Amino acid sequence: MSDVPTVVRTPAELAAVRGEGTVALVPTMGALHDGHVQLMKHARPLAQTVVVSIFVNPTQFAPGEDFEAYPRTLDADLERCDEAGVDVVLLPEVATMYPDGPDSGVVVEPGPLGRVLEGEQRPTHFRGVLTVVAKLFGIVRPDVAVFGEKDFQQLVLIRRMVRELSMGVDVVGCPIVREADGLAMSSRNVYLGADDRARASVLHRALTAGVDAAPRGAEHVLAAARAVLDAEGVVPDYLTLTGPDLDEAVPGQEARLLIAARIGTPRLLDNIGLVLGPTTHEGA
Ligand code: PAF
Repeated sequence: MSDVPTVVRTPAELAAVRGEGTVALVPTMGALHDGHVQLMKHARPLAQTVVVSIFVNPTQFAPGEDFEAYPRTLDADLERCDEAGVDVVLLPEVATMYPDGPDSGVVVEPGPLGRVLEGEQRPTHFRGVLTVVAKLFGIVRPDVAVFGEKDFQQLVLIRRMVRELSMGVDVVGCPIVREADGLAMSSRNVYLGADDRARASVLHRALTAGVDAAPRGAEHVLAAARAVLDAEGVVPDYLTLTGPDLDEAVPGQEARLLIAARIGTPRLLDNIGLVLGPTTHEGA
């Protein structure tokens, strides 16, 4: 397709430019940063047409969360899409995505996995995410969809939705893109004041301490990560070690260390993959 992305706003406009070839979708809420650019670049060779959707989805924000304040940077976003070789940018209105209003209509329930970790703090969040992703899949009909690993629980739930609802979309996860000090890139990092921005790398330092301890087993991973947090006086909402599908971590296998903590105003999420050593029962 052409070099400059075509901007469309409705399912009919999207259908008119979609073509019959393979399509890769990168769903976003805008405020695009280098992490999003990596998703777009990852998508580029996967399909003939790359579509980026930009939609700040009201149903994944609870009352009192930052839906109104969420950064909206459309002009800069379109430039980033252009630079990354995106073909089509889908900019739907709320009324297009939720014709009967955000609180009415069919929803996708995530099940028990949507109620733990992030879901414990934000019980309606993943219903909103899965519902809007299902709607975007219906509009774009992608062959492949690309998501960042930073929102790891979201990625696992989207994979499950696609599998359990036989949606026929290949879901690809991309590694987290980090700032020089290790902070995971996020549109919400703009909420960090200067002092908190300097402290925020503690999450990544805790995770890498956990990775270093991985050969000694799960208890050591958690203890090492927690020691780094304690030294900075950070009390996480959760720090947990799971299997690669948020199932139980198994000694000797791949695992995921996940953390969420409030640093100043924003609540930051991060995670890292590791391979656990065999369980040892020596003292920590
Ligand atoms: O990860 C995000 O930006 C959003 O949760 C998503 C997947 C675009 C759904 O609104």
